[in-house]
Amino acid sequence: MSQLPTRECQHERRVLDLSDRAGKSVRSLNSQQDVPMPLKGEDTLTASSIQAEDSQDVALSVRDLCVSLPGGMERAFAVENISFDLKRGQILCIIGESGSGKSVTANAIMGLLPKVIRVSSGAIHLDGMNIAGLPADKLRGLRGRVVSMIFQDPLSALNPLMTVGAQIDEAMAAHGVGTPKSRRSRAIELLTEVGLPDVQLMYHQYPFRLRVGSGSA
Ligand SMILES: Nc1ncnc2c1ncn2[C@@H]1O[C@H](COP(=O)(O)OP(=O)(O)O)[C@@H](O)[C@H]1O
Ligand SMILES: [Mg+2]
Repeated sequence: MSQLPTRECQHERRVLDLSDRAGKSVRSLNSQQDVPMPLKGEDTLTASSIQAEDSQDVALSVRDLCVSLPGGMERAFAVENISFDLKRGQILCIIGESGSGKSVTANAIMGLLPKVIRVSSGAIHLDGMNIAGLPADKLRGLRGRVVSMIFQDPLSALNPLMTVGAQIDEAMAAHGVGTPKSRRSRAIELLTEVGLPDVQLMYHQYPFRLRVGSGSA
């Protein structure tokens, strides 16, 4: 299997561990052998409160987030009492075994939970505004501009009938960013930044060309 290109990253990085085995203690990432990213000399923090000292610096603040599951499930909550702050320029990596609530946490922040799962308590502050339970039209103004999500599987997350370029353009156009020409150059820039080959060609390709191991992406 070929290695993904690694790049020097100047951002401060932290890890939030949602797994049961993590318990409630803060531990060093160096003692963790199975972490999939080379994060040296950093702390792993559990779902107990992680707070930034300076609230001015905080881009995203999650407090006592509880997301409830429908009745009759194995457990009542998908995530329970999660608190963390994400400062500007900081990268927070949320880890944990399958089913520990990583996707539900991300989807709760994006307001993309399925109807049967809901934020039952807690707050999600984005730039100081509580976005937990914000109506869809208000969230639409933030998604893809202030807060974004990169889904795991491009083949199910992207529209198979729209070209890669058109989908990048659409996100910018929806927020009234730039002109068709400037958006096109920005899209090419972004495709280059993530290391895709033949970006001019990729701009006009359909998402299936992005599949891993295709040789073209
Ligand atoms: N659509 C859903 N319907 C019912 N339960 C769900 C749904 N999505 C997630 N869950 C439950 O929520 C919990 C957390 O899931 P998830 O956030 O997907 O875990 P992870 O991303 O860490 O693997 C799991 O117990 C899972 O079964
Ligand atoms: Mg997941």
